[in-house]
Amino acid sequence: MKIGFLLPIATCLSLANATATSNTFLLQAISNTTNTISSYEDKCYRETHTISNSNDLKYLEDCQTLKGDVLISNFKEPIIQLSSNLQEISGSLTIRNAPHLVRLEGPKLTSIGETFSIRELTSLALISFPELKSVKVLDWKVLPILSTVHFNSEIKDVESITVTDTSLTAFSGFMTNNLHTLDLNNNRFLESITSNVERVTEKLHIAANAENVHVNLSHLKFAKNLTIQETSNIDLSSLENVENSASFINNYFKQLKIPKLKAIGGTLSISRNQVLNQVEFPMTDEIGGGLVVVNNTAIEKINFLPKLSIIGEAMEIVGNIKDIQLKQLKLVKGSAKITAFSSIFDCTKWTKSEVGSIIRGGKIECTNAKGTINTSSNGTGDDNRNMDGINHDGAFAEPAPGFKYRSEAVKKAISFVLLSIALSSYYLVLKLN
Ligand SMILES: *[C@@H]1O[C@H](CO)[C@@H](O)[C@H](O)[C@H]1NC(C)=O
Ligand SMILES: *[C@@H]1O[C@H](CO)[C@@H](O)[C@H](O)[C@H]1NC(C)=O
Ligand SMILES: *[C@@H]1O[C@H](CO)[C@@H](O)[C@H](O)[C@H]1NC(C)=O
Ligand SMILES: *[C@@H]1O[C@H](CO)[C@@H](O)[C@H](O)[C@H]1NC(C)=O
Ligand SMILES: *[C@@H]1O[C@H](CO)[C@@H](O)[C@H](O)[C@H]1NC(C)=O
Ligand SMILES: *[C@@H]1O[C@H](CO)[C@@H](O)[C@H](O)[C@H]1NC(C)=O
Repeated sequence: MKIGFLLPIATCLSLANATATSNTFLLQAISNTTNTISSYEDKCYRETHTISNSNDLKYLEDCQTLKGDVLISNFKEPIIQLSSNLQEISGSLTIRNAPHLVRLEGPKLTSIGETFSIRELTSLALISFPELKSVKVLDWKVLPILSTVHFNSEIKDVESITVTDTSLTAFSGFMTNNLHTLDLNNNRFLESITSNVERVTEKLHIAANAENVHVNLSHLKFAKNLTIQETSNIDLSSLENVENSASFINNYFKQLKIPKLKAIGGTLSISRNQVLNQVEFPMTDEIGGGLVVVNNTAIEKINFLPKLSIIGEAMEIVGNIKDIQLKQLKLVKGSAKITAFSSIFDCTKWTKSEVGSIIRGGKIECTNAKGTINTSSNGTGDDNRNMDGINHDGAFAEPAPGFKYRSEAVKKAISFVLLSIALSSYYLVLKLN
């Protein structure tokens, strides 16, 4: 008991004193422990923990679990540092209205039970949750200088990911089989998107990221609604089925090959892809909506749907078209509108070919440099759709407004940093250069 000798006399005295009154001491200790538990519960278990300054954070600093949602708003300081005791937030973590917030850190946070939602945080540059292993929904919007995200661990249970209007430079993920939403748009420095997701059951939207963005979704088999815009490369080599619409708008790639895609439930739109000239949909036999191939400057032949037999709505083809070969096409339930800018395309021949009998929508309009031929098909009229009947599904929508930050300064300021977000099956790798 050498330690005993080291104790100052006062301590020894007070120990002796405590022993003397040990009964009282015990009782008090018990009742104080009870107090601690109940106030701990009281403080750590709330429907919503509202935080607006670092004192509020300090008040919760001994909570290991915050039951309920955490709402941080009207926070005026530059740093949010969650306590290193905090391991779990059972509900959502939401941060709003914190214009001065630069860093968000949670050194030991492992789990966010619901949504991690941060929006319109114009100074936020860094998020560091190195222990995060589980989050259900990632909802990040308008974080114009967010360029560094530190998620070191594998993150599980992700259901939806929306990242828009950030300065992140790469997104990659592995082994996530199912997502409701994967929406990555207006991340102007985002140059690489990789995910091993196999099914996206609601929305898959990639648009207006860096101009040279490469998108690799080589494991994707099913998408409900697919929109790919402003990308320079896309790998959809496993895609078999699109339940709703598939849109490829204003991309910078030359090739669009989807070797396994069998059916598209809605409209297939391929529009305004300036340099696209190699298109291959070798297996696609049915398009439930319309077929829209408009203003792809380099496409001259519509011969890339060799198995297509049914178009559920109208077909609209506009461009430098010289030839249309849809050999297996048996039925177009809507109308057909062809606008060929060259005179090489022979409208007379085309309208007199068998198309007259397969186009049931009633109207065939063919325009080339020589003029327009309108004919009526002799369809049964059971599907009296016309060109306006195409459900474009917002395919021609412009990139989301509001992305005006092309902060070169920021980009330069934070150079040569490589960061990674690992989201279970997922991680974002953020590389700043
Ligand atoms: C218990 O709490 C009471 C009042 O809150 C305090 O006076 C007392 O010193 C505490 N006892 C112990 C053992 O912490
Ligand atoms: C996409 O990633 C896979 C590996 O997951 C790779 O085999 C394939 O070549 C990549 N595609 C492109 C276009 O780089
Ligand atoms: C296609 O180009 C024509 C002529 O430039 C234009 O009027 C039309 O709006 C364009 N359509 C689409 C869908 O881009
Ligand atoms: C339309 O007319 C063509 C020939 O004129 C004929 O072979 C075809 O059966 C007709 N289709 C319908 C649905 O009446
Ligand atoms: C063909 O139909 C379109 C619209 O339906 C009309 O604008 C055009 O003038 C017609 N052209 C001819 C030559 O009848
Ligand atoms: C498909 O996605 C696009 C872009 O995200 C959206 O505008 C459109 O409304 C969606 N359509 C359906 C049927 O969900």
